[in-house]
Amino acid sequence: MGKTSITFIADTHHYSRTLGDSGKAFAFRSDSDQKCLKETGAIIDSAFDYLSKSDCDAVCIAGDLTNDGERVCHEEFREKLYKLKESKKIYAVTATHDWCCDKNPRRFSGKNVYTDVPTLNHNDIYEFYKDFGVNDAFAEYKTTLGPASYAVNVGERITLLGLIDDKNGRDSAGYKQAHLDWICEQIKLAIKNGRVPVAMEHHLLIPHITPLFTKGACSPDREKIINAFADAGLKIIIVGHSHLQRIDNHVSPSGNEIYEINVGSLVGYPAPLVTVTADENKISVKTDYLKKFTFDGEELDAQSYLANHSVRVISVLFSAAAQNDRELFRQRLIALGINTEKLGKAFLPLFVTFKKLSNMTVTEAGTYINRIPFTEKIPQKSIDAYSSFTVQQIIEKTFLNILDGAREKYTLDSDFYKIVAGVFSVPVCVCKRMRIDGKPLELFTELYRAIDEILTGGSLSNETLKIFYKI
Ligand SMILES: [Fe+2]
Ligand SMILES: [Fe+2]
Repeated sequence: MGKTSITFIADTHHYSRTLGDSGKAFAFRSDSDQKCLKETGAIIDSAFDYLSKSDCDAVCIAGDLTNDGERVCHEEFREKLYKLKESKKIYAVTATHDWCCDKNPRRFSGKNVYTDVPTLNHNDIYEFYKDFGVNDAFAEYKTTLGPASYAVNVGERITLLGLIDDKNGRDSAGYKQAHLDWICEQIKLAIKNGRVPVAMEHHLLIPHITPLFTKGACSPDREKIINAFADAGLKIIIVGHSHLQRIDNHVSPSGNEIYEINVGSLVGYPAPLVTVTADENKISVKTDYLKKFTFDGEELDAQSYLANHSVRVISVLFSAAAQNDRELFRQRLIALGINTEKLGKAFLPLFVTFKKLSNMTVTEAGTYINRIPFTEKIPQKSIDAYSSFTVQQIIEKTFLNILDGAREKYTLDSDFYKIVAGVFSVPVCVCKRMRIDGKPLELFTELYRAIDEILTGGSLSNETLKIFYKI
């Protein structure tokens, strides 16, 4: 027997340009999103063209296929799938964005946003995407919402479980008990048949980087689910949703280890394509990144284009603060999904901090921070190494490390690490002294720990992995 390879992508979020791709309202929406909007069709076409020529046995997509479930986005996206299907098997799962769970589909024209956009109902998904999963499956489990989880054999080695984890029966992501039991049965059956089970779902089962950032992206039953999967014998699960590229592991109380690969969004930086290969004694994982795409007739370098787009979510905040436009700053925060009313009294200090930091150089910030008592002092050598940078640029570089799982690693002894640690020691230092019910405020101490994960990428590689097994 040979080997079997599957390439996974996630969160393609296809956006139809017929919904508007210019004007003030569209620009505001686009600038508030780490991933692209009007470029999605071009990025997906280039990625599918690359995949059609690759040697993988199948292409899998881990949910959030469309921008927000708009029917026109689904129709355009499915056409792209049918074209790729001429050369590759394709297995997809849908997620909450594919039936517009927030019931707020939008189109943009000039200054205006309209919500009169037809969407695909969750009950229509099973039929609409049956050529990309259930039609090839040997088993399926229909959820109460309509879409179905399925089990399909890929090549000689792998049984793929495409799982729909939209609802757990209590209005959160996850599975009802009968669904969870069905999945565990399929895992055991695959192993009994001498195949490697590989599962794909949309939501996270491990909070990557820190629960502070990603707990909300997980199923609330995540521990129960991941322990059940690991104990049934599953070694590897692919997820999307967070738009971050990470690999982490978990060991169940019974001692069974499982790895979760969080595949970042294809239409945002760093546009990862993650290939899982199973041979006779191991599963190996390798990550590639989209190199280029053609947009409106122009060939673009995908990595620099997507990185520049992603950091706009930060630069537009700095720009609003630099203009001293408090209302614009508030609107930008709202567009990022931040509840400014909940921020309450913290809104003004946040605005003032952004205003103060806008255009501040690392040299100015370093000198200022080093004068504050109790903060972590930044060595002059590190300040000098980044003297040509602004604080905004340091924050943007750090943000890219969050998205790409630290492709550029900054170790504890690096100048960059010392600068970022110094900057964050200011709020950490303040909050360490604050007490709620006699306990220290966890928020910023956790943030400090997260900085290490973000800059170093954590203890595991976020790009490659090897798991040895015996079937
Ligand atoms: Fe998404
Ligand atoms: Fe999602």
